[in-house]
Amino acid sequence: MPADKPNDASIPMLSVRDLTTHFPVGGGLLSRLTGKRRVVYALDGVSFDIMPGQTLAVIGESGSGKSTLGRTLLRLQEPTSGTIHFEGRNITRVGREELRQLRRRMQMIFQNPYSSVNRRFRLVDIISEPMFVHGIGDSASRRQRALELLELVGLNPDFAYRYPHEVSGGQLQRVGVARALATNPSFVVADEPTASLDVSVRAQVMNLLKDLKAELGLTMMFISHDLGVVSYIADQIAVMYLGRIVEIGTKEQLERAPQHPYTQALFKSVPKPNPRLRGKEAPPVGEVPSAINRPSGCHYHPRCPLAMDICRRMYPVLETKVGGQKAACHAMPAASAPASVAPTIKALRRARQGGPSQAGQRGVTAPRPVGRWEKDRHASDVDLRRRRRARRARAGSGAAGAHRRGGAGAALLHLRQRPVALPVAASERARRPHRARVPRRRRRRRRRGVRAHPR
Ligand SMILES: Nc1ncnc2c1ncn2[C@@H]1O[C@H](COP(=O)(O)OP(=O)(O)OP(=O)(O)O)[C@@H](O)[C@H]1O
Ligand code: SF4
Ligand SMILES: [Mg+2]
Repeated sequence: MPADKPNDASIPMLSVRDLTTHFPVGGGLLSRLTGKRRVVYALDGVSFDIMPGQTLAVIGESGSGKSTLGRTLLRLQEPTSGTIHFEGRNITRVGREELRQLRRRMQMIFQNPYSSVNRRFRLVDIISEPMFVHGIGDSASRRQRALELLELVGLNPDFAYRYPHEVSGGQLQRVGVARALATNPSFVVADEPTASLDVSVRAQVMNLLKDLKAELGLTMMFISHDLGVVSYIADQIAVMYLGRIVEIGTKEQLERAPQHPYTQALFKSVPKPNPRLRGKEAPPVGEVPSAINRPSGCHYHPRCPLAMDICRRMYPVLETKVGGQKAACHAMPAASAPASVAPTIKALRRARQGGPSQAGQRGVTAPRPVGRWEKDRHASDVDLRRRRRARRARAGSGAAGAHRRGGAGAALLHLRQRPVALPVAASERARRPHRARVPRRRRRRRRRGVRAHPR
């Protein structure tokens, strides 16, 4: 089924500029009398484009503003300021009737399936409802299409006449997917569509969304906590923190070399299937601050291992970094900045170690020295491997060193890092002189020629 309107590949399907959504809260008597109403900064100056057929994944901790962004794009939530262009047209302030027409092409899969359906409707009616609202087909054709969609999302047609309380959460989530696709939309916001599904159903729904993307040229904004799922479906990834995008780029750019310390921490928090790396997960430390009283400057500074003085005073600009993606961080050099100007990570590390650094020259204070554990905690996997290799080389060189410390496993590890080395045969290993662990006192005695037990 083609989408209703052919897409021009050169025009972004969705273009968002400086989008802001604030929620005034605490309308009590005291706050009214004092004139101090507090504001939740759910979304603050968000800008990005999504090209036709692309999927932008939005990740971030709970309360970072992902759902608010999705709802605001579809005008389910009115923005405080900023603009939203859909297929080249400004839809930020369009009227009710125009909005109704637009919603036929913009749909949402909601985060909570139970709160997004009418519990007095049967599943077939829930799926048919958007077609009814937009005047698509007659009653019989709508029912037929609803049954087809049920089958498309992997549900038996027998489910059609059940009520929401008669199905499981995962099954209801699939009904939510079917309902979002009922009007043949060209843009779908999927707000954690797989959060309540078990692993096998999750794979089915993900494959379904991927197929629809390929077949219908569906453009998507995919909100998720699950970085594995994001990696499967996304073309671009945006990382949100306290209502702002702190890093945005292609999936490859972010997975290869995340620039923002928060993105690095998110990627590092993913459990590692490799047993060697298990236990090395390093999720962001501390709690997400309140969206009402956000920390000054860079909102991430209370949790950031690289925080500097400037971070407390000034919010960093979201600019293109050396990896090609955009990130908002003072510590990461901009792609356009000469290496001598930007306070680089290397300079910061040098500052920490007390050596001469550009960071120091630029008024960057040298924070407390960092121990090996802490260094490793924030290092990338590549850095970790490099450090371990260096430590191993210091402790003893070559495969023999690896052999001494860890036997075959360590020797293999060493071989993987140095493909030129030849495998160590078991027979040869057996012939090698084994360095016995002799206590230091006995070694000294041996050197002096003193017998431990004189005859
Ligand atoms: N209607 C509202 N009134 C006041 N505050 C709100 C409202 N909706 C959301 N918020 C606040 O806005 C912030 C962002 O909420 P949002 O639901 O967008 O987060 P989220 O990133 O989707 O979180 P989660 O991953 O838990 O779904 C939160 O601090 C939330 O408390
Ligand atoms: S701007 Fe400063 S506090 Fe914010 S992420 Fe970068 S280094 Fe950390
Ligand atoms: Mg949410």
